[in-house]
Amino acid sequence: MTTPLYKQAKAPIEDRVSDLLSRMTIEEKVGQMVQLAAKFEHDREKLEEWNIGSYLHCTEDMPNELQLRAEKTRLGIPLIFGIDAIHGHCFENDATVFPSQLAISCSWNPDLIKLMGEVTAREVRACGIHWTFSPVLCVARDLRWGRVNETFGEDPWLIGELARSLIQGYQGENFADDNSILACAKHFAGYGESVGGRDAYEAEVSKRKMLALFLPPFEKVVSEAKVASLMAGYQAIDGVPCSANRWLLHEVPREQWKMEGFIVTDWDNVGTLVSKQRITKNIKEATFLAIQAGNDMIMSTPKFYEAAVSLVKEGRIDETTIDSSVKRILRYKFKLGLFDKNRYVTAQQKEKIIGCIAHWQAALEASRQSITLLKNNNVLPLSNKNTRDILLVGPNADDIFAQLGDWSFGSNQAGATNDDLHQKATKTIFNALLGYGQQHNINVNYIKGADCEDETFNEIELAVKAAKSSDVVIACVGDTLNQLGEFHDRADLSLSATQLKLLKAIKDSGKPLIVVFVASKPLSISWIKENADALLCCFNPGAKGGIAITEALFGQLNPSGKLTISFPHSAGQLPVYYNHYQGWHAANSPLLNGEERYIDLPKEPLFCFGEGLSYTQFEYSQLTIHNPILHSGETLRFSITLKNSGALDGVEIVQAYVNDLVSSVTTPVLNLRAFKRVFLQAGEQKIIDLEITFNDLALVNTNLEYVVEAGEFELFVGASSKRCDLLKTKFEVV
Ligand code: NOJ
Repeated sequence: MTTPLYKQAKAPIEDRVSDLLSRMTIEEKVGQMVQLAAKFEHDREKLEEWNIGSYLHCTEDMPNELQLRAEKTRLGIPLIFGIDAIHGHCFENDATVFPSQLAISCSWNPDLIKLMGEVTAREVRACGIHWTFSPVLCVARDLRWGRVNETFGEDPWLIGELARSLIQGYQGENFADDNSILACAKHFAGYGESVGGRDAYEAEVSKRKMLALFLPPFEKVVSEAKVASLMAGYQAIDGVPCSANRWLLHEVPREQWKMEGFIVTDWDNVGTLVSKQRITKNIKEATFLAIQAGNDMIMSTPKFYEAAVSLVKEGRIDETTIDSSVKRILRYKFKLGLFDKNRYVTAQQKEKIIGCIAHWQAALEASRQSITLLKNNNVLPLSNKNTRDILLVGPNADDIFAQLGDWSFGSNQAGATNDDLHQKATKTIFNALLGYGQQHNINVNYIKGADCEDETFNEIELAVKAAKSSDVVIACVGDTLNQLGEFHDRADLSLSATQLKLLKAIKDSGKPLIVVFVASKPLSISWIKENADALLCCFNPGAKGGIAITEALFGQLNPSGKLTISFPHSAGQLPVYYNHYQGWHAANSPLLNGEERYIDLPKEPLFCFGEGLSYTQFEYSQLTIHNPILHSGETLRFSITLKNSGALDGVEIVQAYVNDLVSSVTTPVLNLRAFKRVFLQAGEQKIIDLEITFNDLALVNTNLEYVVEAGEFELFVGASSKRCDLLKTKFEVV
């Protein structure tokens, strides 16, 4: 008997896909479109009966077990397994945990982010899993939203740049080696914009705004990184849920962007068309809408299977529509080699790869580059010579959950059950500081002092007493798991429970106060900005965050991060982002000094997009455009002289913004369009070349076309989005 074509490893993938498809019944085809949750026994039981195509959240030995069962089905089609490995393969015990996506975005380092993708891919693949539901391309503009930590911040252009690198890391060179996994860009699209920061709520987004702000990062990863999949958002836009929106799921990605990848719904998103969004009265009609809209794989709506099979049998859904979806999915199963040698994994392989030294080194480097210095009254770096007694306070100084952040230990989404998860590998700030102190003869005394959640937890008197006999106090404050992530949007962004009281009491003790901010997202911390002597922003810095923070405190590391998201003075200032529009009726009021702002708040955010200090100083000069008259299609080329005028080596993140001076529609006051991380030794000076592509000057006009309009543009280059940090010049598009 000859081996069927689809089983012949050397045959071209397209031929194998067609051959397999020609052998499949309609039931087998629909089964490929079904993704169920591995943690539910009743879902696992359906494997053979429905010829399931995919499971999500398979942990421990489950991948091999399920794969073996799939191999024994009539056609033996392998499963693909998906998981939320979003800052490392965090649901696997002993795997490498990176800083959160928001934290690592502050590195502005695409190569580092690509490395995070490669490490994660190797570890995920070693566990027999093939697909991560990452990266998140949502634009974080309402900080009340619980999922801000999962994003790359507030700027769509930067999000696209960083996401492209992460996907390249995950997917390698078109899955050429066995260490690559499929990426999934999510949530498609405008999900971060749901009203009031309420997760999965309706979003008020016009089509023009969709084109101008929320689709560009997705287009970039589809066309430049060939992302294997997109996940539809839960929310509805202008009355249409994303998972029922054919324009969004079919016309834009497939017809306009020529995407090859497939589209997966979010969790039970077909079910919610009935139960929450109520745009149809039963699952069968929801299934009809979801297929018509262009979804290829349906996550965790088991009733989809029977509904889809009967819709095809009744002739309401054309079998060719199902064929297209199944082909898109099968192609990747072939590309990953799952029909051939790559179906199973071995325990030895896993042991060798998970949490190996090189991976942890990458994670530590990521933690280092994520740290952003926001204030320094010359108290930092601390000196080994003059520091004898440190008082460490605050709930996040010794809290693994706060350090690892969401989608990891303690956040149960993926069904991880092991209580040991990452406990051995994580170095909390307290542990790391204690170790450093022992080596350098420095006493480190830890008093928690306050709690993020428990209003009654109060060790403030104890802490103040200890502060009096210390040289310096380091306070680690922020938020904790119950205050972040899915289902945890917050109306109040101030420091919770007794944390602020603790800080104030310490300040009154008169000792230098260094605040280490370990939180999922920006909070309104005006008091800290005004009163602390130094502030390090770390967000969720990952398992090795404690080491990186200790290095930064003592100057072994010169912080280089810059914020990718603005901090508000208060929740009432939201939304607050740098790329806002001009035209607020405020300028004429005598109260406001001509500034467009609330009468009771400053104009600028508390900390601005792009902001971040160093232990050295950088000077910018000589902004020069090499081609100030730009013709259609030309790239703008310019340079700036950067000098490290301080006494220490350091890294500066040079940022370039544009402002379209007169345009047919209103445009943001600034748009980031280029950046570069530059290392300079103390005293060194360099000319830094940058460029902006022609298309990056485009706006979306009222006909919903992307156009670059002729006329003058301002170019700003400097250290942050704050006007006072930027040099300015002009160029003209003719
Ligand atoms: C729901 C979340 O919205 C999505 O981001 C995630 O990938 C899926 N659940 C699967 O866990």
